[in-house]
Amino acid sequence: MSTNIAVLGAQWGDEGKGKIVDMLTPHFSTVARYQGGHNAGHTVYVHGKKFVLHLVPSGILHPGVTCIIGNGVVIDPQALFKEVDELGRMGIDVDGRLLVSEKAHLILPYHRELDVLSEARRGERKIGTTSRGIGPAYEDKIGRRGIRIVDLLGDREALATEVRENVSARNRIIKETTLDWRPVYDQLLAYGERMRPWVTDVSLYLSQNVAEGKRVMFEGAQATLLDIDHGTYPFVTSSNASVGGVCTGLGVPPRAIHGVLGVAKAYTTRVGEGPLPTELTGELADRLRESGQEYGASTGRPRRCGWYDAVVVRYSARINGLDALALTKLDVLDGLPEVKICVGYKVESEQVSEFPADLRLLTAAEPQYETLPGWVKPTKGVTDFNALAVEAQRYIRRLEEVSGVDCAIVSTGSDRSETIVRKESAVARWLADSRV
Ligand code: GDP
Ligand code: IMO
Ligand code: MG
Repeated sequence: MSTNIAVLGAQWGDEGKGKIVDMLTPHFSTVARYQGGHNAGHTVYVHGKKFVLHLVPSGILHPGVTCIIGNGVVIDPQALFKEVDELGRMGIDVDGRLLVSEKAHLILPYHRELDVLSEARRGERKIGTTSRGIGPAYEDKIGRRGIRIVDLLGDREALATEVRENVSARNRIIKETTLDWRPVYDQLLAYGERMRPWVTDVSLYLSQNVAEGKRVMFEGAQATLLDIDHGTYPFVTSSNASVGGVCTGLGVPPRAIHGVLGVAKAYTTRVGEGPLPTELTGELADRLRESGQEYGASTGRPRRCGWYDAVVVRYSARINGLDALALTKLDVLDGLPEVKICVGYKVESEQVSEFPADLRLLTAAEPQYETLPGWVKPTKGVTDFNALAVEAQRYIRRLEEVSGVDCAIVSTGSDRSETIVRKESAVARWLADSRV
């Protein structure tokens, strides 16, 4: 039987989803992104060469693999063309194997302005968005005034009316400048022409793939704690990054998803505003940031760093039905005298073991830590679990117990090859069939 799996973030993003998707891709014929936009930044190293993917799925680096951008994704055509051109310069040809859903919504040129304005208006309460226009594009989608890719390829008069109305709405909000709808319309038509060969009924394509027994990997961007419904609202992104987004964002039924792999760092990071219970400051935070190179792939912002939070991952395991974890960046903890795992919170002198929805409680949460010995022998580049320092093995085993999910993959470096796939794990079972 073919095994289709979803790979998604179990924390606040930047867990290393790109690396994991890339290393698993040889076992799949199709990789499909289901939500988000170019707010995502997935860095993948292949034999020392660095690729940063934003909209194009991280499977693209493998020749012959089809990559899909689903209807749940919001697309800034300019950002997409820039990425495709950059990939071309690096020797990756997407022709004939990049498909884009006709139902995907567009990020229009002024959505970025609206994003920046909305942040400025929030002042102290700002979200810390990537200012890519993601939120405003999803707002227009939900408000039923969005423009979809298919709209660029059909009735031009209808498109002109839509663009005129949208631009005049923008002009009512941003009074300092007046945007003319005509150039926006002309540009959209040109964008449509360039995208035309990629545009597809993605749901139909995927259902045919599945019927033929080909394997599909569903790739998440952002993460469960940034999910519009299940994340730390309002400090979230504007889409469903958790597993539910696979069905709505690609038009596939739940039964097409045979396994769910959560990606989690061996510690925690977050970029942007909002609560982060295990956040560290000072020397230790700087140490993690520097050795983990924790700077945003999209915006270059320093990421906030903290210890591994098992309350968070337990919550992600429940929301997504995680079958297993890919634990990344274990090597970043190499050389620390001790490592900590947050196993619960104390909130107003009460013990809390479930992730609270009320941000007031979450902000007041005092992490309850278990402290374990660190390890001297480096884990960097290790590819066999038993070759890891015994303290590192102990750390992983304890982390599995308190998170309630097994680590099927342990990543020990940024390169494809620096990975442990544990024998008899869910991932080993999924990959047992040879490539379809
Ligand atoms: P994504 O958004 O989830 O794909 O993650 P990012 O690419 O934004 O951030 C993860 C960063 O960590 C990237 O720069 C990766 O190259 C790097 N990375 C991934 N796995 C490992 C690992 O096991 N060890 C180290 N040191 N770096 C890793
Ligand atoms: P990947 O896929 C980490 C964060 C932003 C901000 C919030 C809302 O690389 O893991 P948005 O621009 O989406 O409206 O910003 O979400 N954010 C991410 N943080 N990784 C990402 O993507 C992110 N995409 C958005 O920093 O806090
Ligand atoms: Mg990232």
